[in-house]
Amino acid sequence: MVCKTARRRTIVADPFQDVDSAGPEFIKLFADSMDERQSDPKMEEIVASYLAALSLSEHSTVIEVGAGAGAVTRRIAAHSSASKVIGFEPSKGFVAEAKDRGKGYPNLEFLVADGASLPLDSGSIDAVVMHTVLTHVENPKELIVEAFRVLKPGGTLIVCDADFSKATFSAFPNDPLDICAKEFVREFVTDPFIVAKMRSLISDVGFSVARFGVESRVVNNPEQMLPWVDVTCQQMYERGDIGKELADALVAEHHRRAQNGSLYGYQAFATAIARKPG
Ligand SMILES: C[S@@+](CC[C@H](N)C(=O)[O-])C[C@H]1O[C@@H](n2cnc3c(N)ncnc32)[C@H](O)[C@@H]1O
Repeated sequence: MVCKTARRRTIVADPFQDVDSAGPEFIKLFADSMDERQSDPKMEEIVASYLAALSLSEHSTVIEVGAGAGAVTRRIAAHSSASKVIGFEPSKGFVAEAKDRGKGYPNLEFLVADGASLPLDSGSIDAVVMHTVLTHVENPKELIVEAFRVLKPGGTLIVCDADFSKATFSAFPNDPLDICAKEFVREFVTDPFIVAKMRSLISDVGFSVARFGVESRVVNNPEQMLPWVDVTCQQMYERGDIGKELADALVAEHHRRAQNGSLYGYQAFATAIARKPG
């Protein structure tokens, strides 16, 4: 995960760019974390709202690009039980988790593939969903161009992503716990500002953007936000950026707030719904 160390200054690579290299522990931790996130009522509201924009039949095929362990793909399969749903994901480890967790959905399958090069015919797909993927790729335009290629004329592209540039734990000025939110974004996100570019990125490729909106999500569930604190503190400690006492104190502060109900994890999520011209 830590790719280069020069004196004490460190450059960190987003492990979601190459999940299999991050190892099985990472895969299990974030497969569980993404399932937890999808079970959050606000996240469910966001996903239900964009899925409601799809009009599908039993002949439709919907794909999720960057499906991870399938938390959102399973939700799509439940929504469109008559349609075929395929989750494409470059990590073999995530695909194995996704297949395991997706047993019992007869209309669902998972395949290993990069979103920039999908094993699909041009103009063959009714809807493409990208959920918290573009923020983790170096060249998001390649994925949008590929979605345009595989979609049928009139097909729908849904892009939902976090505006990580606004993510915070701050409950008061100079809140020390916010270091963990900033560090999580530095360690686990490639482009925290992708949401600001989302509309132009999609329309420049030829899509017509029918809807774009941003919603707030406040997370006070201790399980959901814990990796933002314990994983980042462990990494700051291992890099020698902070001592063990401070790392332990920040984790303890997270637990204290989670227990007394004052934990405030703020995130903004943007959704764009776009159509390929018919
Ligand atoms: C934060 S996870 C989101 C997973 C899933 N969409 C969800 O919300 O549960 C980001 C995913 O993007 C995938 N990813 C990274 N680069 C990609 C690329 N070039 N093409 C497709 N997926 C990619 C990662 O492997 C990872 O599974």
